[in-house]
Amino acid sequence: MEVRRFGKTDVDVPVIGLGTWLTFDVGPSGQRNANSVADAAFAAGTRFVDSSPMYGRAEHVLGSALGERRDEAFVATKIWTRSPEEGREQLRQQLDHFAGRVDLEQVHNLVAWKRQLAWLEDEREAGTIRFLGATHYSASAFDELEQVMRTGRIEAIQIPYNPVERDVERRILPLAEELDLGVIAMRPLGGEGALLPGPDPAKLAPLGVETWAEALLEWALSDPRVHVVIPATSDPDHARANARAGRLPWFGPDEREVIGRLAASTR
Ligand SMILES: NC(=O)c1ccc[n+]([C@@H]2O[C@H](COP(=O)([O-])OP(=O)(O)OC[C@H]3O[C@@H](n4cnc5c(N)ncnc54)[C@H](OP(=O)(O)O)[C@@H]3O)[C@@H](O)[C@H]2O)c1
Repeated sequence: MEVRRFGKTDVDVPVIGLGTWLTFDVGPSGQRNANSVADAAFAAGTRFVDSSPMYGRAEHVLGSALGERRDEAFVATKIWTRSPEEGREQLRQQLDHFAGRVDLEQVHNLVAWKRQLAWLEDEREAGTIRFLGATHYSASAFDELEQVMRTGRIEAIQIPYNPVERDVERRILPLAEELDLGVIAMRPLGGEGALLPGPDPAKLAPLGVETWAEALLEWALSDPRVHVVIPATSDPDHARANARAGRLPWFGPDEREVIGRLAASTR
């Protein structure tokens, strides 16, 4: 799987990551399946995993699924609360789940970002957190996201990017490139797989991909300003299939346009 240097950090990340929203919010009976998804993803080269306190039991389940592999993983998670005290409690729990450190701590949906960044920077200084980031799922918040990016206080952003959600192309991706920030593409399959199952597989053959999911993931990664995509799955076979999208060659502008048209027509 291809790796990309994650913005201005010294870390190379394999381009296919693993999201955990809904799929890892499971009880004890679902842990075994979550382990199998993580096994399949890691065997295929995935290392970047993304979670949040907003995702119910997902951080706990992810921590258990990683187990002894914790050191191989790049754990991205989030702080999601207006209160710094509660934020500190969220970090405390994450340190339990992820063997004492978080690789990328993101301010989820920009909630109280000024207040949260103030203490998160101390944690980064102390080494419990390696890098800081900010996320938002809605284009209506991109002015504020731009403001955070320009502070110079974060190393990465997480934004929605797929053929029918391209608002980031106007200002966010150019700014991320200028500031050398890591870029994580969330909702690469449309958000909860909204762009699936997609067109007739026969239409994909000329694109050199086997599945529509692969086409969508490769579509996002064909923009070199994106470093990692984080599809979520509860199916080990899907995790393996998604990993196949992390290989060269990337799509050119014509192929991206074809995929854009197919995506629009299958909505
Ligand atoms: N920061 C934020 O505000 C925010 C918001 C949304 C999402 N996120 C992050 O981004 C991640 C991804 O977004 P998302 O979970 O909304 O949606 P997504 O990754 O676009 O789609 C996930 C869905 O696609 C299906 N899927 C995955 N691979 C497949 C394959 N190869 N073939 C067929 N179906 C496949 C999964 O079903 P199966 O289980 O059947 O595979 C799942 O239902 C989240 O998990 C989360 O970590 C962040």
